[in-house]
Amino acid sequence: MPDVLLLPGDGIGAEIVPEAVKALKAVGKRYQIRFRFREALIGGAAYDACGHPLPEETLRLCEESDAILLGAIGGPKWDNLPVELRPEMGALLPLRKKLGLYANIRPALLFPALIEASPLKPEIVSGMDLVVVRELTGGLYFGTKKREFVDNGDEQAIDTLVYRTGEIERIGRLAFQMARKRRKKVTSVDKANVLESSRLWRDVITGLGREYPDVQLEHMYVDNCSMQLVRRPTQFDVIVTENTFGDILTDEASILTGSIGMLASASIGGKVALYEPAHGSAPDIAGQQKANPLATILSAALMLRLSFGMEEGAQAIEAAVRQVLDEGYRTADIMQPGKRQVTTAAMGDLVADRI
Ligand code: NAI
Ligand code: MG
Repeated sequence: MPDVLLLPGDGIGAEIVPEAVKALKAVGKRYQIRFRFREALIGGAAYDACGHPLPEETLRLCEESDAILLGAIGGPKWDNLPVELRPEMGALLPLRKKLGLYANIRPALLFPALIEASPLKPEIVSGMDLVVVRELTGGLYFGTKKREFVDNGDEQAIDTLVYRTGEIERIGRLAFQMARKRRKKVTSVDKANVLESSRLWRDVITGLGREYPDVQLEHMYVDNCSMQLVRRPTQFDVIVTENTFGDILTDEASILTGSIGMLASASIGGKVALYEPAHGSAPDIAGQQKANPLATILSAALMLRLSFGMEEGAQAIEAAVRQVLDEGYRTADIMQPGKRQVTTAAMGDLVADRI
């Protein structure tokens, strides 16, 4: 029995997570799988209840579960707490680190029904279906940082960009394996014309490529990649890149699909993986049944695919989402003239029903 830990968190988290649970239950019913759902506190909700955004009990339940579904955390109410107690810094980052989640998988898939919602011209964005595999626990964000004064009295700040072969290899393998299940193309993005860490990155990925002769490998400089993404996004299948480049490119890729409320993500690499929508707790619309639950529902599909090897179940969710959009149902963020606007819960019910 797959054991799923639910961490609704703050703001719209409490509204969107139950909609993803409906989808998982519908898959369970269709394929005779019984999920066990447990729930724990995280973020501001946890701080309010017990004085810390990542309680010991929550961490223990995370480590014991087979997969984690997170809503979103944070909000203005907790912004002025000391840094170690703020939901993002005190809970989300430590949780990812403690669970060893070194890979962030972010599929940017354009549903045909939402083609008008993309900022790109329909003929350019049509058919876009790519996934960015971002290294999540190395690089600039985790390198040694320092500030110091130099001879002439200037202050200087130093960030260090470090990558080891082992770190590059494990994320690279994941990208090749993912490409094998897709359109068999990996684009490795670096800045090997300038950065030594990128030269190592390119060497390691090139070596790995020989183990995956069935997958087409291309290397691309990050500046070119950022341009190619808006020029012809359909050329990409799997993009693999280091932490900072991935941070920037995933934001760029995400908006091409129409709304932040559509974007699922998976953070994997440890014993247990964490699935969450790419957006935050949206305090401006929380409690109003306006939030788009599809990013969370699509994150549940990723869970089925990546944690439980249930490709059929994942596809059933994705097909249901596509169908509901094709039928013209929209939450407020993706509402277009002539379509039918529905609440968060109604959207969840529709998807579960179509599954
Ligand atoms: P946000 O993603 O929460 O909201 C940005 C805009 O997008 C808002 O107008 C919001 O209404 C809209 N939006 C977001 N998700 C939506 C959905 N599912 N359906 C419809 N509209 C949606 O980002 P913002 O406002 O910068 O941050 C709000 C809080 O969330 C902050 O405390 C921030 O730190 C936190 N946050 C948490 C994340 C996480 O838990 N992983 C990630 C990003 C932000
Ligand atoms: Mg970012």
